[in-house]
Amino acid sequence: MLPAAALLLLGLNAGLILLGVPMPLIADRLPELHAPLLVFGFVGTLISLERAVALRAGWAYLAPALLAAGMILALTPLPLIVGQATVTVGLVMHLAQYRAIWRRQPMTATAVQGLGAVSGAAAGLAWCGGIPPAFLVSMLSCFLVLTIVGERLELARVAAPGLAAERALFALSLALAAATLLGLVMPSIAVPVAGALLLAIVVWLLRHDIVRATVRQHGLPRYVAICLFTGYAWLVVAGVGWLLGGSRTDGPLFDATTHAVFLGFVITMIMAHAPLILPAVLRVRIPYHPALYAPMALLQLGLLLRVVGGDAWGSLPALQIGGATSAVAMLLFAVTAAAAGLRGRKARATRGAARVAP
Ligand code: HEM
Repeated sequence: MLPAAALLLLGLNAGLILLGVPMPLIADRLPELHAPLLVFGFVGTLISLERAVALRAGWAYLAPALLAAGMILALTPLPLIVGQATVTVGLVMHLAQYRAIWRRQPMTATAVQGLGAVSGAAAGLAWCGGIPPAFLVSMLSCFLVLTIVGERLELARVAAPGLAAERALFALSLALAAATLLGLVMPSIAVPVAGALLLAIVVWLLRHDIVRATVRQHGLPRYVAICLFTGYAWLVVAGVGWLLGGSRTDGPLFDATTHAVFLGFVITMIMAHAPLILPAVLRVRIPYHPALYAPMALLQLGLLLRVVGGDAWGSLPALQIGGATSAVAMLLFAVTAAAAGLRGRKARATRGAARVAP
């Protein structure tokens, strides 16, 4: 978890350098590593760590260890390929984690997440082959989107959708993985197709996720539901952008669609699921507290400012302030979750002491 947190800080630092914000840490390779640091180094390490904990097998920890170590190596003066190759072996190990999970649980949820891992490993191989991350955005998106969609199914947060619906989701996921792979050679056709598939997956989620019921509850279920609706809305923005805007590797539409997926969907989903998943990974309970809404709302505000004011209106200050606001929101979330964990621990200790008192 600690290397993942350090890689998050470095990745955010790199993103802000790309936006022209004066930053404390400037290194030659840092800006070009922004996407790999965040996608492989931060989110990839977290996801594969969670899978390793679930598998309870020593070898499974190789995946998060190699992903984090590879990104650290990529930052050193060693040839970049050393870090890239280590990360790619980590991504292949992550795929092996799903093979082991499939043996225990041959379910659609596992297959969907496995397809995400295939996209991640393919993106790692392409990166090793010298293809810059900007050309791999749809593949990187597929890696994280399918992992999260599969996890929604696995967490049984999707009301038993039935065999036909599960098959439909698997077919959509397979088509998305294939389209993003095809994007390497025929991006002008593959990216709009991937956009349409992304929209179809959102429709599937809105129809089958129990989020429409839980949003009417209170406390944690409502918080998670609001995060989910928000994340799905950003996925629609990305889907429409890819469908109508086609393949791009720079410019405002590229920035907007890329961060609609990674900040709007992926990071919002991490904020939603952290109170459910972190207890298993860190053995620390994160009790719900309304303060969790503050970083989540700040993230959305920053992203809206960036997409509407920066990308659509062309205002550089809006782009920079929006980007910095999203970065602050992510750090605020870490502090809020840690404070909620400490409060919960203190409350349990107080209750325990009251129970033993005469
Ligand atoms: C919150 C702070 C962030 C800032 C300030 C930021 C900034 C940027 C900038 C300026 C670009 C280049 C855009 C262009 O060329 O038009 C970029 C690209 C990208 N970002 Fe971010 N980003 C942030 C967060 C994230 C997160 C959390 C992720 C993933 C989890 C991410 C993934 C990517 C990817 C995949 C690309 C495309 C590849 C590349 O151009 O290197 N970003 N980001």
